[in-house]
Amino acid sequence: MTVRKSQATLTADEKRAFTNALLELKRTGVYDRFVTTHNAFLRSDSDFGDRVGHRGPSFLPWHRRFLLDFEAELQKVDPKVALPYWDWTVDRTPASSLWAPDFMGGTGRPQDGQVLDGPFAYSGRRWNITVGVDRYPFLRRSLGAGGAQLPTKAEVNAVLDMPEYDAAPWNSSSGGFRNHLEGWRGAGLHNRVHVWVGGHMLTAASPNDPVFWMHHAFVDMLWAEWQRRHPKSPYLPAAATPNVVDLRRPMRPWNNVTPADMLDHRRFYTFDTEGAAPRRP
Ligand code: CU
Ligand code: CU
Repeated sequence: MTVRKSQATLTADEKRAFTNALLELKRTGVYDRFVTTHNAFLRSDSDFGDRVGHRGPSFLPWHRRFLLDFEAELQKVDPKVALPYWDWTVDRTPASSLWAPDFMGGTGRPQDGQVLDGPFAYSGRRWNITVGVDRYPFLRRSLGAGGAQLPTKAEVNAVLDMPEYDAAPWNSSSGGFRNHLEGWRGAGLHNRVHVWVGGHMLTAASPNDPVFWMHHAFVDMLWAEWQRRHPKSPYLPAAATPNVVDLRRPMRPWNNVTPADMLDHRRFYTFDTEGAAPRRP
């Protein structure tokens, strides 16, 4: 069973295994298929039309399945690899080991945001950006630019305490847990982290930056924590809602995956924080 751990606790060997698997998927073209899929969904998801990956209730199950597919590809390269999560309420500065040259590499240079060190630096010739939104072929970042701050534990806790999963009109103006976690309202949690990293993370092609996976693995973990705090709160909407994916409707691009299929992460993996917990019947 896959156990997802905090990136802060990975050993040097585990970091190397993860970055090597990322580089291998990049080399074979598998990686960029995922970037292409994300780019297409982010661009077509809209508040007043169909929304699948973003701006609607299925934001969380869609990304859970997207990460599962990606993790399965990593595990074809190296079965020991699991997606780490980045707890940005704790590891919250550009000086964090997350951004060291033996892992993600650091921020970009001032004039164009080019990441200069680590496995994904352009000079290493192993991380060319091919699914892009601009003219630059290199990975770009600007960590904490303009004095931006990552969300705090208190801000996360306030959102985890919200009892209702989602609410009409089921888009980026909704009240409820999902929209506050996605970050269109309130403290801006998930969206604000994309902004803090900057560069490619600010674009529809955000998975070009491999930190995307660790950010979303943590968002996914927060969903699991919300479920633990609110065991009687269901996924909403239950049925028959135009333009959004209700509980038992299939989510594109998969033919056969519904939000209901994604509700219990323990079918697929656990987090290091719940290792000793008994499996739910
Ligand atoms: Cu996304
Ligand atoms: Cu995101």
